[in-house]
Amino acid sequence: MSAGSLQWGGRFHSAPDPALLAFGSSFEDDLLLARFDLQTSQAHVRALLGGGTIPPEIFDALVAALDRIAEEIEDGTFTAWARNGAFEDIHGAIDARVREIDDVAGRWLHAGRSRNDQVATTLALYAASRARDGLARTTSIARALASRAALALEQKSVLAGTTHGQPAQPILLAFWLQAAAEPFVRSARRFAALARDAMEAMPLGSGALAGSCIPLDRTAAAQYLGFARPSRNALDAVGTRDVLFACADAWATSCVPAARVAAEIVTWASPHFGYVRVGDASASGSSLMPQKRNPDIFELVRAGTQRALSDARAAWAASAAVPLSYHRDLQECKQSAIAAIERADSILTAFARAFADIEFDVERMERQATTGYTLATDHADALVRGGLDARRAHRLVGERVAIAEAQERAFDASDLRALGAHLGVPALVAPLDARASVLAKVTDGSTSPEAVARALDALECELSECDASV
Ligand code: ARG
Repeated sequence: MSAGSLQWGGRFHSAPDPALLAFGSSFEDDLLLARFDLQTSQAHVRALLGGGTIPPEIFDALVAALDRIAEEIEDGTFTAWARNGAFEDIHGAIDARVREIDDVAGRWLHAGRSRNDQVATTLALYAASRARDGLARTTSIARALASRAALALEQKSVLAGTTHGQPAQPILLAFWLQAAAEPFVRSARRFAALARDAMEAMPLGSGALAGSCIPLDRTAAAQYLGFARPSRNALDAVGTRDVLFACADAWATSCVPAARVAAEIVTWASPHFGYVRVGDASASGSSLMPQKRNPDIFELVRAGTQRALSDARAAWAASAAVPLSYHRDLQECKQSAIAAIERADSILTAFARAFADIEFDVERMERQATTGYTLATDHADALVRGGLDARRAHRLVGERVAIAEAQERAFDASDLRALGAHLGVPALVAPLDARASVLAKVTDGSTSPEAVARALDALECELSECDASV
């Protein structure tokens, strides 16, 4: 690339070192910003027109050139053209193409503008768009999990819920699925708030850091782009990326619940558990062991989440070293944030597809639902309801667990009789199977079928509110 196609040059005597130009280029990562840069430029020419800086003929020519580049981006010709140059970023590439299409009008495009306010505005538009996408993605995952929960609720399928990886208490499969859905509802709320925040203050018109001596109709530009208002401090506006980074955080942290569910699926897919069967379309075999059927996609979701989280963290961390206004470090931060968002998007997409492909072995889950004395807490609760204090009830049931364990048997009627004696009744009335256990739960938010049905209704209401708020 010659120094003549750069956006500067008057004071330079030679062209940049191509290797350093390549080192400093974010062009390939920027490609997904192209349409937002074009929108930003369309807004800027409106600001120039409104400020009386360019006449209508130049305005029309610039709008036409930008429209043409939008088409070239769609059909791929712009990218091919730009790859023949050596551009630092998408902003310089689009500017050069405008000048190539119409050199007279093109020379006016950058009046009153710096790449600093341009990139900040482009990134705000990208963040808003990706926040809306994040809202759509997380609501759809939450709805998919909730509808599987509704199906499982009809059958009242049960399993042994665990803590510390140990059998704890029986729960409904529907309750587990609802638990998997809830974090995505919280993510959806965060995305909805971010989508609004990103479109609050428009950086365009801030210039390099101090504003512009050229009159610009910033209000017209903000209206064109859909921002609530122009930003109110140029120095802050050009160097702030917090909404973009918050968007990267929202995406990366939305993968965490997917990774945790994935971790459970990996365990459950083992024949030792056998609770789920990963579909053929999402499982892989071994090149050596003919019997293998591996839940790879869920493992990749688990590890990929850590990469997305690191990229999001890298964006914040590198920006923390940067003084006020624009510094080139922010280009690196931009790339980290984009990497987090795009990776997280692919993780959630893969998770949704692979999860849709799993089958639960509900009979097997149910058969193992009371293994490990998962009814012990119900028995202790029954003693407390009968009037014994909680510590004593806990100890008495613990003693019966030790006896049953020593005899290598499950809890049975003999344990109920022994416990009943402490209340002065022939036998304790307490659930002796997992289904009775979940039916006996009385608190809101519990695993009882009524509570889960109510929770699923409330969850859907919250998702509809999120949808409507953006
Ligand atoms: N390439 C930069 C980025 O993507 C934009 C240029 C910023 N301005 C500057 N003075 N170097 O962040």
